[in-house]
Amino acid sequence: MKLTKEYSIEEYKKLMHEKGWIIFHEVVDPALIERLKNDLEASYKIRRPIQENNGVDTNTAGTAHHLLADGKSFFKFLSNLYLDEEIKEYFEGNYILNTFGGNLNLRGQHTYASNVHRDVRTYTSDIKLLLNILVVLDDFTPENGATYLLSGSHLKKEKPTEDYFFNHSERVVAKRGSIVFWDANLWHAAGENQTNGSRRALSLIYSRPFMKQQFDYCRHLGYENVEKMPSGVKQVLGFNSRTPTSLNEWYQPLDKRFYKNDQG
Ligand SMILES: [Fe+2]
Repeated sequence: MKLTKEYSIEEYKKLMHEKGWIIFHEVVDPALIERLKNDLEASYKIRRPIQENNGVDTNTAGTAHHLLADGKSFFKFLSNLYLDEEIKEYFEGNYILNTFGGNLNLRGQHTYASNVHRDVRTYTSDIKLLLNILVVLDDFTPENGATYLLSGSHLKKEKPTEDYFFNHSERVVAKRGSIVFWDANLWHAAGENQTNGSRRALSLIYSRPFMKQQFDYCRHLGYENVEKMPSGVKQVLGFNSRTPTSLNEWYQPLDKRFYKNDQG
């Protein structure tokens, strides 16, 4: 784990503005990375039969969504609030978890993530709604399918051609424990793994607090449990931007409101 910051906030802002992405090298504790790898394998085994039973298995091979629902090391990772200051800078304020998934990226696995795509359906230019986060669990190399990112493509609405994308994009070559950010407006694609090893990664998205989460993490964990957590963790789980489901939940004093007034 690095004790000094790799980038000043100014350098970080410049890279995110001009290139649209940045690698923070080896920031996660190696022991936690090992736990995350093991837990990801176990979580995939829980999800795969559900994907198959529900007929959504063809393009989801190797993917595992909503890992936080399983707790374990995923919760530890989230609770550490890595790069919290940088994420707040990006959103110009508070943010919440939109989704928390993972990918094994084995040889021959071609999923929706292998296509040239961006993760936000509405091009929002300078208005930052979503931030992509990739956590490298196995070293990423060109051979095992390091992610392709097209620098500067977050500044244009139009989708590049496949030819242009693959001729001009850069690869996320990084050691395990590294965390990669990219502006959700950036065009990207997972690479094809041509080795016999896995290229495991966590894939998270953070958002402004008014965006609907892809999974109701607070209700899943239980409001009474989340309420006792440290304030930064509560915030990121979306506890301060919930939707009431009864008049009793709606009519509450400021400090107990489901949607707090500092959530944008
Ligand atoms: Fe993506």
